[in-house]
Amino acid sequence: MSAVGELMLDVRDLTVRYTRGRKVVSALQDVSVTVGVGETLGVVGESGSGKSTLGRAIVGLAPVHSGTITFAGEDITHAGERRRRDLSKNLQVIFQDPYSSLNPTRTIGQTLAETLRVHGKLSAAEVSGRVASMLERVGLSADAAQRYPGRFSGGQRQRIAIARALMAQPRLVICDEPVSALDLSVQAQVVNLLRDLQTELGLSYLFIAHDLDIVRHLSDRIAVVYRGRIVEQGPADSVYDSPETDYTRALLDAVPIPDPVRQRERREARRARRQGSQSARCAPTVTEMETP
Ligand SMILES: Nc1ncnc2c1ncn2[C@@H]1O[C@H](COP(=O)(O)OP(=O)(O)OP(=O)(O)O)[C@@H](O)[C@H]1O
Ligand SMILES: [Mg+2]
Repeated sequence: MSAVGELMLDVRDLTVRYTRGRKVVSALQDVSVTVGVGETLGVVGESGSGKSTLGRAIVGLAPVHSGTITFAGEDITHAGERRRRDLSKNLQVIFQDPYSSLNPTRTIGQTLAETLRVHGKLSAAEVSGRVASMLERVGLSADAAQRYPGRFSGGQRQRIAIARALMAQPRLVICDEPVSALDLSVQAQVVNLLRDLQTELGLSYLFIAHDLDIVRHLSDRIAVVYRGRIVEQGPADSVYDSPETDYTRALLDAVPIPDPVRQRERREARRARRQGSQSARCAPTVTEMETP
């Protein structure tokens, strides 16, 4: 999937600090990750580990204390508002909550057209043509353009959010838990859609999730975040099949599966595979979600 050597995103030694009253909190500490052209980097970790902070820092929405963020060869660590607006043509985000991320007072067509207006001078007919074909591409009918977000289900809204992110034909899309709010069956559809679009359009993804199972399906490589630091990073299959840290192991075992028998079998199989594996670099904190 990825082109060797070409980097779409290069994050080096990134430290992000938030100030809470008189306390300073490092949400990320010396984080280094890369995303190649056409590649997907999965970023996993429990709630509060700093995943969204990484995505937000890349698009200029979190306070960078030190380190660099290079996008398509350009240092964008401290890019100003105007440059950010131009960058958004190539660098887009899909947020977790499809209910709050769409403006309820605008039709889907208006929302999708907005991106095109910012980035180019197209005629009204060209704009509506591009909106209609993007809606069809994400599995919705073109007449959805006339309707408001309130008329759509969670899965449909997330398809609309994906369509909006792709309107400007970006090169890198940061997907911040784009399917976590959706039903399991809809999750699979949206994940498949993201994968098809990646192949079709040559997109690079930074895909954030707390569920390692979802990330594995999409990712070439996986970075595991624990308390603001990357504790493990490598090819998706090796992180999944032979995790190096107890933290990753705990994260894997915590993935909820609807079928308790399958879950138990899977956990036992994983434990058997792990016998003899090397010692851990950090202690597990993820609570195993046992199905009764
Ligand atoms: N605007 C902010 N001000 C202060 N602290 C913040 C802010 N945003 C995030 N944090 C803190 O930074 C840490 C990382 O938060 P972040 O949202 O990146 O976690 P996350 O891994 O995305 O969690 P989740 O899985 O729940 O979305 C947390 O301790 C959080 O409380
Ligand atoms: Mg988050």
